[in-house]
Amino acid sequence: MTLLEIDTIIHQMKAGNSQPFLVSCNDSKQYVMKCLNNTTNGKALFNELIAYRLSNLLKIDSPKSGIAKLPKNIVESNTLLLNNESRYGKCFVSQLINGVSLGINPITVSSISNINIFPKLVFFDTFLMNSDRADNKGNWFITKKDKKLIALDHTNIFRIAQIWDSASLAQDSQNPPEIIKQIDDLSYRLLAERYKKNNPQTHHPFSPIARIFKNLSDKEIHSCFSKIPSEWKISDTDLQAAQNFILFQREHSTDIVNELDQKFGFNKGGYQHGKF
Ligand SMILES: Nc1ncnc2c1ncn2[C@@H]1O[C@H](COP(=O)(O)OP(=O)(O)OP(=O)(O)O)[C@@H](O)[C@H]1O
Ligand SMILES: [Mg+2]
Repeated sequence: MTLLEIDTIIHQMKAGNSQPFLVSCNDSKQYVMKCLNNTTNGKALFNELIAYRLSNLLKIDSPKSGIAKLPKNIVESNTLLLNNESRYGKCFVSQLINGVSLGINPITVSSISNINIFPKLVFFDTFLMNSDRADNKGNWFITKKDKKLIALDHTNIFRIAQIWDSASLAQDSQNPPEIIKQIDDLSYRLLAERYKKNNPQTHHPFSPIARIFKNLSDKEIHSCFSKIPSEWKISDTDLQAAQNFILFQREHSTDIVNELDQKFGFNKGGYQHGKF
């Protein structure tokens, strides 16, 4: 497959700290683009790409994403890109989806058509230590057409976003698993309540997604870490550490499920049946 190339910068997104850009590419489609600049480093782009590839393997709805080339002449002729010291080369793009980021509140939660995404998304955010969905309204995106909640913005995984390293990931490889405090946010609780109403018979909602994760092969996990652009400057040590962290979390899927069942009150009425 040939590498996607950005041909037009349309405008800077209003939302988001990193203010990504709406662009169009040589496939005539529009994308939201994040590139290396004075606030976004290679780890931020790496985090996005790894999380996207994992979301694909786990069948969690998210915008189609990948790597694209941002040409030198486009950067040099755009004041906004020059202002934040954007660098040409490989960047992360996600295909534009029509929808809105409104956050999760009692009104928006009742409008979501795919509430069954709740256990998948919480499990995903927990094992990846995504610290930036929770109370960040911008990162709860609902599609306009069918009111589906989808997963986007995974810049801040691995608990400390752009500054994780092998030492922080080794520290975060714990059993019983460390559940980041953001998972206690009201947004996840509102989703859990709505999920329970819709699925009163389900006692262990996190088990199916954990089973899919647990059953991913080493090869599938390794594939998430392949072809990382060299200009993102991820050292071999860091790449290996990130991969080992995901393998560690995969081995502790059951322990994560137990923690989440307890946290969201799904452990009442008996022990967990079945093993995976
Ligand atoms: N593929 C997409 N389709 C439609 N809208 C998108 C897409 N990707 C991002 N957006 C919109 O752009 C906003 C900013 O994108 P994103 O959250 O990825 O950037 P950010 O700068 O990392 O945000 P934050 O401030 O949360 O760190 C999102 O809140 C969302 O509304
Ligand atoms: Mg965001």
